[in-house]
Amino acid sequence: MRPAVVYYSYTGKTKSVAIELASQLGADLIEASCPAYDGLFGKLRQAWDVISRGHPPIRLEPMLDARDLIVVGAPVWGAKAAPPVLSMLLRIRGKSGRIALFVTCDGSVPTSPPEPALDEMERATGCRVLTKQVFRKKELKSEDRGELILEFADDLKFRMSVVTPIRPQPVAVGRSSVERANLATPRPSGTQ
Ligand SMILES: Cc1cc2nc3c(=O)[nH]c(=O)nc-3n(C[C@H](O)[C@H](O)[C@H](O)COP(=O)(O)O)c2cc1C
Repeated sequence: MRPAVVYYSYTGKTKSVAIELASQLGADLIEASCPAYDGLFGKLRQAWDVISRGHPPIRLEPMLDARDLIVVGAPVWGAKAAPPVLSMLLRIRGKSGRIALFVTCDGSVPTSPPEPALDEMERATGCRVLTKQVFRKKELKSEDRGELILEFADDLKFRMSVVTPIRPQPVAVGRSSVERANLATPRPSGTQ
């Protein structure tokens, strides 16, 4: 199964990193779009989602199937993950035992660092991620840009070669884990 680089990008910076990374990894490129953020009302919805940590509806093109590795990219908004990526990560759950994350950000405001965004994204995956990477505006504009993306790709390839994938866990729907455990455990006769 080819790896996939799945990203959300509002102004194109994350997209440009995702394109280069996918090419380095020989991965499929999958874009998440968020039509709910189009137009004037879209801007209001965007601001509301940033404050309320909303999960707006997204479109994934093309659809994502199971992969050996999924790399998720997103911009940082208000020192958190851009909300469409939270919706995206819910869709990704169970699709791969190996997930890596990257964010792009301005990175110049000490009170709005990118690390909490990566932590929030990791929590939303529901598993421990392979690695997390930040690309700051300054780095992306520098002549080292290509080298930085290549280093990230090489690091991912190395980790892929040494880390056994955890079997993807389907997201539980319907019965709770306690209910399922109770159903799976035969009870001695005479007990309820
Ligand atoms: C609504 C909004 C909030 C942002 N908040 C932050 C922030 O807290 N910290 C930061 O370093 N950059 C912040 N940025 C800058 C973006 O993270 C940065 O420009 C990113 O690379 C944009 O990615 P994109 O072009 O893929 O949308 C913010 C940008 C927007 C539009």
